[in-house]
Amino acid sequence: MTFQGHPAEAVPRPTRGRPTAARAHLFHPGTVDRYRQLLATTVDRVAHRVADVDRPFSGVTPARLAPEVDRVDLDRPLTDPAAALDELESVYLRDAVWFHHPRYLAHLNCPVVIPALLGEAVLSAVNSSLDTWDQSAGGTLIERRLIDWTADRIGLGPTADGVFTSGGTQSNLQAMLLAREGAVTAMARPREELLPRLRILTSVAGHFSVQKSAKLLGLARDAVVTVDTDPDRRIRTAALAHEIARCRQDGLIVMAVVATAGTTDFGTIDPLPAIADLCRAAGVWLHVDAAYGCGLLVSPTRRHLLAGIERADSVTVDYHKSFFQPVSSSALLVRDRAVLRHATYHADYLNPERTAERIPNQVDKSLQTTRRFDALKLWLTLRIMGPDAIGALFDEVLDLAADAWRLLTADPRFEVVTRSQLSTLVFRYLPAEHHLADDANLYAREALAASGAALVAGTKVDGAHYLKFTLLNPETTVDDIVHVLDLVAAHASRYVRTKTAAEASVPPTEVAAQPCRVG
Ligand SMILES: Cc1ncc(COP(=O)(O)O)c(C=O)c1O
Repeated sequence: MTFQGHPAEAVPRPTRGRPTAARAHLFHPGTVDRYRQLLATTVDRVAHRVADVDRPFSGVTPARLAPEVDRVDLDRPLTDPAAALDELESVYLRDAVWFHHPRYLAHLNCPVVIPALLGEAVLSAVNSSLDTWDQSAGGTLIERRLIDWTADRIGLGPTADGVFTSGGTQSNLQAMLLAREGAVTAMARPREELLPRLRILTSVAGHFSVQKSAKLLGLARDAVVTVDTDPDRRIRTAALAHEIARCRQDGLIVMAVVATAGTTDFGTIDPLPAIADLCRAAGVWLHVDAAYGCGLLVSPTRRHLLAGIERADSVTVDYHKSFFQPVSSSALLVRDRAVLRHATYHADYLNPERTAERIPNQVDKSLQTTRRFDALKLWLTLRIMGPDAIGALFDEVLDLAADAWRLLTADPRFEVVTRSQLSTLVFRYLPAEHHLADDANLYAREALAASGAALVAGTKVDGAHYLKFTLLNPETTVDDIVHVLDLVAAHASRYVRTKTAAEASVPPTEVAAQPCRVG
């Protein structure tokens, strides 16, 4: 028996029977040399692969890659790790999408910082689970410090709290759960009577996870009311005020307003102070979805763009978008820690009520039970680089986006929707034959991806197809942008030329049915 505070004596461990081959794969004191050697060679492989990547994507299609993955017989192990890693080349690494490549300009994925990769290596080897203190110890305290640090950066005040989540979608879901419970509790009426009357107001440019949350939370099909935006794609506060009043008149209950601090497509930030005023006057929960814009919290030059966020009841931050962290790394912050009780469930085996006061169990605040120690990545990032360095990286991509916007607006080949406050650019190639614009841009995007030379995203604006850059890589240069724009224009104009030639020589009804064979 060992007593608290006394080191256990080294007692030889009994071996039950002969060790099986499987035991050699278990990570334990007897296999640390194998672990050391295998990880070192694997890191070396990844380093070589990354050093050799000359384009963000190979252009592989699902039809070409799926048979390779299907061919793998999962019931017949290769046993040799080197052979399994060789195989991984052809089923994954060779055709992976490389977010660190400077011409990956598509979605909200960032290249990652090396200190965070150190965290990743430590956290998966130690494999703490952040649900309870007795599965994490210091991990729980580290996560709590980072939550307090983030809440301080936001300015949420002394009663703030929060929890790490798997991503912005889960953070938004949990925020809506807390808002729903707040509204239902405040009304003191039967839940089944209230649920169909609850409404969430957000802008048309808000993230779709708000709609998904409403569905998961059992709200009415039309529970999310989308409010108009101004030409900059920021919510119109007058329209928001009007919707709040209209809901009231119709006997509906506005359970939350979701403001977006960095819309996914346009990178614009809703007018947070004015929205906070409206929410306060109406007694409505304000959630700020800063999944994208949270990097501004550490920006040495642009923190002011988030002014008003400190008045939110809850905030979503995605460190895996603008803090250069590997997926997953996100958090939900709340102004009043008491509201997290709506996520608490006491399970006798895990977090008995008796110990709730004394033992810090993060499961009491989370939608998840077993949960990765993702906070460690941010911890090591802050301890090695510091917040200003992360903010400076984010600033670099915001500066780049401003340069790219200037380029695009001066380029007669393209039309730009709006100027981002962050780092997106929504634009399209605009041919003289306007009726071909949609197809030309769709074609250019696909052709670019098939070549693998660059990856850009697409979206729809007012029913028309546009292309989108999301710039999150400080290694991307203006020359990269110029090059990719030229590629887009070349693909799109080739499409237009082929199509107009076909239209000139074939009766219109037949043109519509013909596939375009260019590129
Ligand atoms: C504004 C915003 N909120 C929420 C999300 C969802 O975040 P996640 O993909 O981490 O679930 C995104 C994703 O792009 C987003 O842009």
